[in-house]
Amino acid sequence: MTSPDYTEKIPNNVELREDRRLQRALESWQPNFLNWWESMGPTLPTQDVYLRTAVNVGREGWAHFGHVAMKDYRWGIFLAERNQDRRIAFGQHRGEPAWQKVPGEYRADLQRLLVIQGDTEPASVEQQRNLGATAPSLYDLRNLFQVNVEEGRHLWAMVYLLQAYFGREGRDEAEELLHRNSGSEDSPRILGAFNEETPDWLSFYMFTYFTDRDGKYQLGTLKESAFDPLSRTCEFMLKEEAHHMMVGTTGVDRVVSRTAQVMVENDTDDVAALGVVPLQVIQKYLNFHYSVSLDLFGGETSTNVANYYTAGLKGRWMEERRKDDHRLADDAIMVDSLDEGQSGQQCIGLTEVSALVGLNTDLRREYIADCQGGVKRWNKILAEAGLAHRLKLPHVAFNRKVGAFSGVEASPDGELLPADEWERRSGQWLPTDVDKTHVRSLMQPVHERGKIAAWIAPPRNGINGQPFDYDYVHLA
Ligand SMILES: [Fe+2]
Ligand SMILES: [Fe+2]
Repeated sequence: MTSPDYTEKIPNNVELREDRRLQRALESWQPNFLNWWESMGPTLPTQDVYLRTAVNVGREGWAHFGHVAMKDYRWGIFLAERNQDRRIAFGQHRGEPAWQKVPGEYRADLQRLLVIQGDTEPASVEQQRNLGATAPSLYDLRNLFQVNVEEGRHLWAMVYLLQAYFGREGRDEAEELLHRNSGSEDSPRILGAFNEETPDWLSFYMFTYFTDRDGKYQLGTLKESAFDPLSRTCEFMLKEEAHHMMVGTTGVDRVVSRTAQVMVENDTDDVAALGVVPLQVIQKYLNFHYSVSLDLFGGETSTNVANYYTAGLKGRWMEERRKDDHRLADDAIMVDSLDEGQSGQQCIGLTEVSALVGLNTDLRREYIADCQGGVKRWNKILAEAGLAHRLKLPHVAFNRKVGAFSGVEASPDGELLPADEWERRSGQWLPTDVDKTHVRSLMQPVHERGKIAAWIAPPRNGINGQPFDYDYVHLA
């Protein structure tokens, strides 16, 4: 394992120099990537930003921090260290050595998985491109840009695999990843949640909490892949992803704590006029981002995913910690379903399916359990402030566009509702134009060192041991 050489055009630890063809292909993609970054990346002009750059993949000390101009960020290709003895942990090839090349029979499926994952990375940069103009502090601005450059690097990670292992088609897909754009009419991003706007910072924190967390779980399944270069790529991406989760978790913490503080000081929950986000509105944003993120897990059942598992392309979350045969051919799982009740009316229930077919549900449940952790910590903040109000995750049937509940409407408590009642009441549960306008009105930029917007509490800790009032960003 070599450590990346930063004098090279494309920093990497994959010995790119030894493969001239691949090096040339990536070097010809690089200017297109930079054009994309310039035209679709962050719009706020900056001189430089205090950023973390991956410099090593070893257990300790993998990152370096320093002020860099964003366009000069060293996007590169980093795979986690290779385990020479790695064996496939699941599916019909369980126990065989991991693949260093793509088996012909799985080529199309693997390529598809890479394209779908790759498409989400630049999409989020596009969704967040205008947020810099309304950042609540330089600390937050820096975190936004850190997330953005790393999502850019994640695109590099997928493009590397496409170009290194999928020939001409892989190169074409690499170009397409720059052509599709979030929210575009003609060529939108592949997945719905990645075509939604991220218009304000509350949305940004919710996105990094709920939607980036979906990414964490998807990467977790790909990290198990029998295709070793994909596994190693995802393992390294997960390291970077941890920071994105932190931005979301602590971002929502800070909004909740500031709101709680203003509620207590003024002894009211009617705090919109007091310059913070009311708890009901925080709950609505949570409902929205959580439900669109659940859609990213696909339907409750999927034969494609069953086949991916059996083939060894995509495993389960923490595959090796599971106590079963890792083939699942004889196992069953109960999945959420829309059933018919005794008098013929629809009701929400559970249906038993084969464990393989229910793998999306398995992953989604792992994700939901993780999301509960966030809700718990936000409620602890409310409890410690002496407030009775609690946040909660809505029911899996709420506001769904994908899967068993896409054709019905349900309340956050999981009560099925007729269409007209949903029409009438959905504004109680999802952000209305009034809510969004209010949240946007709070988004006045604070670009002064050590200062923070009034709707959010300052962070407990700075970045890399620096204080909150550090000069994290120099604006142009
Ligand atoms: Fe990512
Ligand atoms: Fe991320």
